[in-house]
Amino acid sequence: MQSVGEKTYSQAVREGKYDLYVGNLFGKYDNVRTYWEDQLTRIALRPFLRELVERCRRENRGVRIVDLGCGAGQGYEILTKIDRRDLDLGLQHERVLPKEEIDLYLGLDISQAMVERGQVLFESQPEVTFAQADLREGFGPFKDREPFDIYFSSYGSLSHLNRQDLVKLLQDICEHSGNESLIVLDFLGRYSIEWPDFWFADSEDEKVRDYTMSYLYSEAVRKEVESDRFPLRFWVGSDVKDLSEELTQTCGLGVEVLKLMDRSMLVGRHTDTQEYNKQLKPIRRAVNSLHQDYLRTNLEELVIDPAIVPDHPVIAPPLRELIDSWNVVVEYCQQRLWERCSLTQLEGWDDFAKPLQFALMTIDRVIADVGWMWYGDPRANIIEPQLGYALRTLEYEMQRGRGCGHGLVAILKTQK
Ligand SMILES: C[S@@+](CC[C@H](N)C(=O)[O-])C[C@H]1O[C@@H](n2cnc3c(N)ncnc32)[C@H](O)[C@@H]1O
Repeated sequence: MQSVGEKTYSQAVREGKYDLYVGNLFGKYDNVRTYWEDQLTRIALRPFLRELVERCRRENRGVRIVDLGCGAGQGYEILTKIDRRDLDLGLQHERVLPKEEIDLYLGLDISQAMVERGQVLFESQPEVTFAQADLREGFGPFKDREPFDIYFSSYGSLSHLNRQDLVKLLQDICEHSGNESLIVLDFLGRYSIEWPDFWFADSEDEKVRDYTMSYLYSEAVRKEVESDRFPLRFWVGSDVKDLSEELTQTCGLGVEVLKLMDRSMLVGRHTDTQEYNKQLKPIRRAVNSLHQDYLRTNLEELVIDPAIVPDHPVIAPPLRELIDSWNVVVEYCQQRLWERCSLTQLEGWDDFAKPLQFALMTIDRVIADVGWMWYGDPRANIIEPQLGYALRTLEYEMQRGRGCGHGLVAILKTQK
């Protein structure tokens, strides 16, 4: 049977990489995963989850979640830490899905090491359970359970399934689900700048490629050790729309695509490793540094050459536009720190897209407002993280869910 990365995953668990952890300069829970990827996933989910939780409240019951390829329960952390609204300075957290309103979180994973780790991490929470399951065999073993409200997955778990196995799993899920269940898919994006060689894949075979999680290890270790490789299916937005139409036709219920989101268009895991594209700079490493306390980043490392984007009628224009906007923000921040410019001196302001104007105004105000501060290191601890968030927001506002990011998140709803 084909490898599903068991060697990589059990080793990662042994080394504590799947323990729930916040922010770091590299590895599984690096700053980009924590402050960009997990947060953007939450932002994408928020309106749909809010509606679902309110419906469960009206029906006087808790929420039932199944997490497909759950690792050690990472999805639980994603789902329970979504703020109901953007917080102003005075508010405390109020979550969309408070832990007390979960009836059941069932994590399914093929890796026994992951399941055991999850059981340890959540041992004090009886509503959180784990079971070993191979999702290539469909959802059959769980069909006698009550329907779930959310059939969740995160970070490429379902890219481990080829299209045929995924269709079978989703058909089982559609049969099992109640009305208005959410299905959250999270794939590897085929049009990521990390692997331009995959962009022109045409046949089903070409959309499945060998993958490695070498990014979990430092550069020194990567050079020493030959990392495990396993096949993943890479997806684009139009594939997901075709998939939902196929499910609608074959399952006798509507499967609507509510949202598609490209996640990490310029900061994918493999920008640092250059495993699939030698022209990339280690941009993720630089962004991780932006979010690290007491560490000043060489902002030059964030500038990206738009010429590295190969020609492609659909992918190249939006990618180049994002890179151009990204560079304007980085370069403006650099100049502004050296007091060599102001917003009024920027050429082309009227032609800038609204998200770019907003990012520039944010950086300008932050630098103006904290420049006088003396405690700590305001550049490393305030300005640089804000630059990180400005770039994150730029990416989010300019993505169109085409499959141009490292991750492609798809939120689907069933309608009986
Ligand atoms: C990249 S990890 C993501 C883990 C977690 N969802 C997260 O957000 O970090 C992919 C997970 O999918 C699991 N997996 C791979 N193939 C699977 C299969 N056929 N059935 C069930 N789980 C599978 C792996 O064991 C691994 O835990």
